[in-house]
Amino acid sequence: MNEFRVAPASGLARAREDEATRYSRREFIKRVIASGAVASAATYIYGGLQGCSRQGPVPGFVERLVSLNVNGETRRVDVLPNETLAMTLRYKLGLTGTKLGCDRAECGACTVLIDDVAYNSCSVLTHSVRTRKVTTIEGIRGPNGELHPVQQAFVEELAPQCGFCTPGQVMSAVALLKRNPKPTRDECRHALSGNLCRCGAYDNYLNGVMRAAAAGAAST
Ligand code: FES
Ligand code: FES
Repeated sequence: MNEFRVAPASGLARAREDEATRYSRREFIKRVIASGAVASAATYIYGGLQGCSRQGPVPGFVERLVSLNVNGETRRVDVLPNETLAMTLRYKLGLTGTKLGCDRAECGACTVLIDDVAYNSCSVLTHSVRTRKVTTIEGIRGPNGELHPVQQAFVEELAPQCGFCTPGQVMSAVALLKRNPKPTRDECRHALSGNLCRCGAYDNYLNGVMRAAAAGAAST
């Protein structure tokens, strides 16, 4: 009997203890939520006031929605602060003719023109070209989609093998012919020296540039 009476008594005590614990837990959670709300409100109000008094943009802030001049069109695009031009062109603008090989300025597969000068787009930050003119392999075709004379010359010289390096070779050759319409073979070799070709078609590409120069490709 004693055990019977003691048991409910201790059970009751435990129940009260549990209730007290639950209560204190509930109180604790409520207080945490309340203090969080106060902190957020304080941050909002105080931060807002700070924002009101601050002149100009927050330090480190970069406008992400930018306008780019690509292939003669203005393209609005959301660009991360550290995004490379190759990434923007391929994965935001769908211009997949620009290839990504090494992604570290070694192979030339990603070559594009910026203000008519050849650059490795994998090593150029997109935000740095916002006021400049970008041309990709898609931008050099003729008005009716015909091949650029450099592309035509490369085809005639059987330069593209697997074709992976071809867009980069084309863009380097176009940049060369824009600044030097009648290059020597050595000048061509130097201009294309940053474009690696795993198929080893270097002579074919050189022949193609010389053919394009002879055909007056620079005037197109
Ligand atoms: S991918 Fe840009 S140089 Fe190789
Ligand atoms: S044609 Fe294959 S990498 Fe140059």
